[in-house]
Amino acid sequence: MKNIYLNIHKPNLLNLKKAKRNIENNNVIGVPTETVYGLAGNAYSNKSVKKIFKLKKRPSINPLIIHFKNLSDLKKDVILNADFIKLYNALCPGPITFVLNKNKKSKISNFALARKKTVAVRIPKHRVIKDLLNILKFPLAAPSANISSKLSPTSAKDVFDEFGNKIKFILDGGKCKIGLESTIIDLTKKPTILRPGGISVKKIQNIIKKKVILKKKFIKITAPGQLKLHYSPGIPVEINKKYAKKHQALIGFGKKFKVAKNHFNLSKNGSLKEAANNLYKTMRIIKKRKFKSIAVNRIPNKDIGCAINDRLKKASNK
Ligand code: TXA
Ligand code: MG
Repeated sequence: MKNIYLNIHKPNLLNLKKAKRNIENNNVIGVPTETVYGLAGNAYSNKSVKKIFKLKKRPSINPLIIHFKNLSDLKKDVILNADFIKLYNALCPGPITFVLNKNKKSKISNFALARKKTVAVRIPKHRVIKDLLNILKFPLAAPSANISSKLSPTSAKDVFDEFGNKIKFILDGGKCKIGLESTIIDLTKKPTILRPGGISVKKIQNIIKKKVILKKKFIKITAPGQLKLHYSPGIPVEINKKYAKKHQALIGFGKKFKVAKNHFNLSKNGSLKEAANNLYKTMRIIKKRKFKSIAVNRIPNKDIGCAINDRLKKASNK
């Protein structure tokens, strides 16, 4: 069979150097992180960042997450505070993004930040993006590597499914360990969770010894309908359903979920972590098998289940 995935590359030394060269030339590339794959470019370069927005068809009002290799680099672009230091010591590198105030001397592209005075920053754990950051002299702007409003990719082939040959280079770091996007916490005011993720609110509260606010609607919708539908597999999703209708796939969870041709079990042994990891992959498979829509059983709303429900709710918006 013909190999169509010519832009997917193993993360060996030679390919890391090629990735570096691509990024230094203001190209954008697919990069694995422990949460989902990112579409990465030089965060200091307007040219690079504009390419990211264009490829993703992302509204220019929606700022990007900036990925750093370490704390000393981070300090050049944002202002740290006490809660951040506590969370950083306990959880970084890892699947958590912090919104902090921009440092006056910051070189981050204004386009990447949608001209905001705050920056969403993350220090990722995945070996491949770390290796890449270690050989670069600037941080990486990297939103999830999907077309805006669609599902995030959790493998190199998923990135290819989104962009095909429109991006020259994808580093293959295998399947993402977490499979859902990072937890986002705003630390520029009273700590507020903007997006639930792999790290639970409880864990965060235990670390900073403060109550954390959970923001229900975090993106300012400036035009009607804009950004409302998110994490969409491209077919309708209905949540909290017991059964599937005709031509519909049913996503379930746990031992009791019956085996059937249109049934997709996120975790046979009822692990929410495993369910989170399988969510996007399963929705992609369902779409490829030409089901017309997806019904989803109720998923327990605890731990990473909160993040699963957040994504499903947004995927089910009309
Ligand atoms: O796990 C992740 O976070 C992945 C990997 C690649 O790191 N990235 C990711 O990026 O999910 P993205 O762009 O798909 O989602 C970032 C979210 C957006 O909804 C954006 O609105 C929000 O972060 N964001 C970025 N900068 C912000 C800021 N300064 N204030 C508030 N929200 C911000
Ligand atoms: Mg995204």
